[in-house]
Amino acid sequence: MPRRKPTAGIEGRAQGGRHIPVLLAHIIEALQPADGETFLDMTYGAGGYSRAILEAADCRVVAFDRDPMVIAAAAHMREEFGERLELLAEPFGNLLAKTQEGDFIGSFDGAVFDLGVSSMQLDTPERGFSFQSDGPLDMRMSASPGSPASGTSAADVVNTYAEEDIADILYKLGEERRSRAIAKAICARRTEKPFSRTLELAELVRKVLGRTPPGKHPATRTFQALRMYVNDELGQLLEGLAGAERALRPGGRLVVVTFHSIEDRIVKRFISSRCGKSQGVSRHMPASIESIRPPSFQIINSRSLTSSKAELEANPRARSARMRAAVRTAEDPWPLEWSGLGVPRLKT
Ligand SMILES: C[S@@+](CC[C@H](N)C(=O)[O-])C[C@H]1O[C@@H](n2cnc3c(N)ncnc32)[C@H](O)[C@@H]1O
Repeated sequence: MPRRKPTAGIEGRAQGGRHIPVLLAHIIEALQPADGETFLDMTYGAGGYSRAILEAADCRVVAFDRDPMVIAAAAHMREEFGERLELLAEPFGNLLAKTQEGDFIGSFDGAVFDLGVSSMQLDTPERGFSFQSDGPLDMRMSASPGSPASGTSAADVVNTYAEEDIADILYKLGEERRSRAIAKAICARRTEKPFSRTLELAELVRKVLGRTPPGKHPATRTFQALRMYVNDELGQLLEGLAGAERALRPGGRLVVVTFHSIEDRIVKRFISSRCGKSQGVSRHMPASIESIRPPSFQIINSRSLTSSKAELEANPRARSARMRAAVRTAEDPWPLEWSGLGVPRLKT
């Protein structure tokens, strides 16, 4: 059967909810779904990528999402696609452990990551991700209203962590230059009353930073940092990428969409190192022959792809999206080693 092309105009159209899939035409072009193939959608969300893959060919998708509400909302997709869609209600970082236990190794023809949170998560104030509408200061992706979640919430961090640890998180995960001033104000305010709501924190950050460039809320970086910390998003990214390296068969495509510079740097360095592009410190100081490993990936686009003007007009949330892609070679996966990938080291 010939490959089917993605539906014209699919980019920018809401799929199965209010979340508009980002860079969708590029994703399908890079994944090249064909009949009989199997794909990993590492971040199911509203199922926009899964749907486009399943519609592009007579293939299968195994999808991860750690958000229990996402999995519950996916019932219609399971009805529509039956056994062609399998949903795993767990963090995608678990893929690495699954391959280490002998499951999923070399089983997939493509893996796609669309990092961060969905529009449904951002637009549901009770989830506590938004600095624009009031809700509990939570931010755990695995928490859903009414069901207790384990792990540290954003409120736990701002109410109990030492000032220097809060500053460290805001600086390293949010690239917030005024991290110390914000941490100081947080610790002064919490002695009067602990934080419990998103707008309490957003308002405090606004007061500390004063005027910021138009179009960007002053609390953007603080909220990004807390969300990344609470969900261990960089740890998940590293384990997810290493898991995908093991789960893809030779010729399998790896496609990653990131939304900010720390994640993009990690993905860029992961791909370029495994494509053999950054072995050795420089051309004057090359790596020794023994330490050179055969490339486990081959790069597809040397530069990242970003959204077109038309996509940005239809979906302003695509503003900072960047896509990188590579193809798995037949060489062994590289050992687990994160140095050189630009992962910030936190004190806590
Ligand atoms: C940007 S949305 C994905 C949207 C999706 N591509 C679509 O088109 O509908 C990101 C999703 O990934 C999930 N997610 C983020 N980090 C995750 C992780 N470590 N493990 C599993 N799911 C994760 C979030 O819960 C969210 O639903």
